[in-house]
Amino acid sequence: MAKKKDNILLTGAAGQLGIELTARLREQADVDKIVLTDIRHNQALAENGIFETLDVLDKDRLWDTLQRHKINRIYHLAAILSASGESNIMAAWKLNMDGLLNVLDTAREINGFRVFWPSSIAVFGSDAQRQNTPQDSPLNPSTAYGISKVAGEQWCAYYHRRFGVDVRSVRYPGLIGYRSKPGGGTTDYAVEIFHAIHSDEPYSCPLQGDTRLPMMYMDDAVRAAIELMEARPDDIRIRTSYNLAAMSFTPREITEEIRRYHPGFQTEYEPDHREEIASSWPESIDDRAAREQWGWDHEFDLKAMVRIMIHQ
Ligand code: SER
Repeated sequence: MAKKKDNILLTGAAGQLGIELTARLREQADVDKIVLTDIRHNQALAENGIFETLDVLDKDRLWDTLQRHKINRIYHLAAILSASGESNIMAAWKLNMDGLLNVLDTAREINGFRVFWPSSIAVFGSDAQRQNTPQDSPLNPSTAYGISKVAGEQWCAYYHRRFGVDVRSVRYPGLIGYRSKPGGGTTDYAVEIFHAIHSDEPYSCPLQGDTRLPMMYMDDAVRAAIELMEARPDDIRIRTSYNLAAMSFTPREITEEIRRYHPGFQTEYEPDHREEIASSWPESIDDRAAREQWGWDHEFDLKAMVRIMIHQ
């Protein structure tokens, strides 16, 4: 549980993970202790609590916002994802890198401050072991997004080592939930496929049928972030980013699972540039370090996730 004294701020609160994390945090903490920010105004978020527009590239405004609300916990989620990042590599690098550096550099001025920052399976490239990818694998990513995540992990470890910044991170797989829509990711198909169930057309999948990727149901992803933020500092022995896993499946396997509920459902495979990205990523992840060091355990597998997504 979030402590009563904690004042929490989210960047990228209107994004896929931000909306879900907000919902969970609001169940656990007073709404006046949670400050939501995003680069654009979001009426739905603003109606039920504190919302401010914030561009994380504006370091003075970031500092001012943290001070005004006496923030001691930040979930820094604002980022451009893998597929969008390839269309605008400079924007992806600038937001993902300078945004994180602004947060880390501000954090070192504030005592007792904790930072959560998501890294990604996109840090791995095709030279990493594809099954059960180990925590300490070569990190030679194939995308601008992946490069920004590798560099970001190194900056997190640096700010922790040199300035004692208490920054915590996980390498998320593809995230699947029904409360929010993804945007610009390679794994987005696993959410979009559910929106196609009631269409008359087959779902057009941007990956090949047998491209296996690590994935996670959103409730697990949100719980991982919160549990990592609440773990004792001494238990967190990895200050780059933890491998994190729940399930792995292919487009064909998720289609089959959906067909158990909707037998007429069809998927057509029309791989585009996202297939190239996906096939450079791991198929499954070894997340023993997270399980051993701070007690990570996932709850949802493919069957459970599909059941929930279908019944929404
Ligand atoms: N889900 C992300 C993406 O596809 C990976 O971190 O870009």
